[in-house]
Amino acid sequence: MNIIDGKQIAQKLRNDIAKKVEKLDRAPGLAVILVGDDPASTIYVRNKDNACKEVGFYSEKINKSANITQQELLDEVIRLNNDDKIDGILVQLPLPKHLDTNLVIETISPEKDVDGFHSENIGKLMQNKANLRPCTPKGVMTMLATTGIDLIGKDCVVVGASNIVGRPMAMELLNAGATVTICNSKTQDLSGKLQRADVIVVAVGVAHLIKGDWIKKGAVVIDVGINRLETGKLVGDVDFESAIKNAGWISPVPGGVGPMTIATLLENTLTAYQNRK
Ligand code: GUN
Repeated sequence: MNIIDGKQIAQKLRNDIAKKVEKLDRAPGLAVILVGDDPASTIYVRNKDNACKEVGFYSEKINKSANITQQELLDEVIRLNNDDKIDGILVQLPLPKHLDTNLVIETISPEKDVDGFHSENIGKLMQNKANLRPCTPKGVMTMLATTGIDLIGKDCVVVGASNIVGRPMAMELLNAGATVTICNSKTQDLSGKLQRADVIVVAVGVAHLIKGDWIKKGAVVIDVGINRLETGKLVGDVDFESAIKNAGWISPVPGGVGPMTIATLLENTLTAYQNRK
């Protein structure tokens, strides 16, 4: 059994990006907007800001009150669309319920949409012509590439169908030539579907949902879940202790997908910078 060490792969990506930034005449700029003070979102935004500093990016961390109006938030996005120092704009999700998430995403200029969530960028991903690709699924593809396993014709099962992870993840795997099954919370016989999978990507946010005996011997298992147990311990959606008995490759939580999402955001910001030049 092999561990896919996301922390290490992400560090290498950041080192490579930092080297490229040294040669540029201007620092690529990322703006991250956080609305409210959700504890998990606050940590993610801080980690993104720190990662920018590490590679020499210009970064703006913008904190807005949870009471911000729809129009005030749109005006902030429009201001950043027009700010030449800023190459990438990320609005941390989820947003408070009174705000229209879709409208906010569609207001971000597609060439600064480093999350790859704008309909123009998602549409291009569907056509296998993507330029800015959603960070978590793209980071997972980078992790899969390190295994050296050829995805062409492989049976891949994605558990979870969110706009942020599951749907774009399925499209990434399809674009790589795999046969893809997308499961959701209503899927019948989930364990049976997983038992046939060569590659499993799980992103549902249910601690220990996937049991070791649902995993085919030698399968690759990527765990996108981050769940905090009552004890305070962080765990994924996969029951790691039983999964390692069958998996050929597995990503841990923490230290798996999490750092890859952030390193991929930096990659996308560099891409957005290059596109804008
Ligand atoms: N919340 C959880 N994951 C993400 C992400 O990849 N991007 C944004 N903007 N918000 C998130």
